[in-house]
Amino acid sequence: MKDEVDPRGDDVWAVGNKHMTEDAGLNGGSMTDADWKQLAGAATNLQQAALELAGLPDPIVVVKPGTKIAFEDADWGDSAKSVQHNVDQDPQGVRDLANALAQHMADLAAAANKHDAATAGQLINDLDGICESCHVKYWYPSQRGLINSIKKNSGVDPST
Ligand code: HEC
Repeated sequence: MKDEVDPRGDDVWAVGNKHMTEDAGLNGGSMTDADWKQLAGAATNLQQAALELAGLPDPIVVVKPGTKIAFEDADWGDSAKSVQHNVDQDPQGVRDLANALAQHMADLAAAANKHDAATAGQLINDLDGICESCHVKYWYPSQRGLINSIKKNSGVDPST
């Protein structure tokens, strides 16, 4: 996850951030053919990492034994052990969410190949939420209440 999914996500955002419009869309006007190609390639790369995650046999091990995960040592941080416990409770859910990420990236690669800035921009903006949907279920479910209250306070529908 950390070694494959995260850096490939950054590759997608790198193109998106470089060509962001004022309202956080993707600026088709400044995208060169090479940029579109780079975006399609980054999306396909991330799609493959997600498919690999979705294809892991039981038991799915997301953290290498003996390694610590981000924020594990913080008071509020969740441990690798608790993540593994969450995964063992519902491994099919991990596959479903990984497949959802793969589909999202297939759609992004298709939009990039068509040079469709409106669709690609929307998909890049929604990517964060796809990552978070899995993290909040498997990584830090203890933070769900806090996240929902932040969303509520900033006028965002907590169910999204
Ligand atoms: C199918 C589930 C799933 C999806 C989708 C997912 N992640 Fe994760 N991610 C996890 C789990 C489980 C952990 C906690 C275990 C760990 O830290 O490796 C995690 C941890 C992380 C970490 C912390 C790694 C560390 O040092 O402990 C980062 C960074 C991260 N994810 C980035 C991303 C990004 C970016 C995306 C979207 C492009 C994404 N993830 C999508 C399951 C997922």
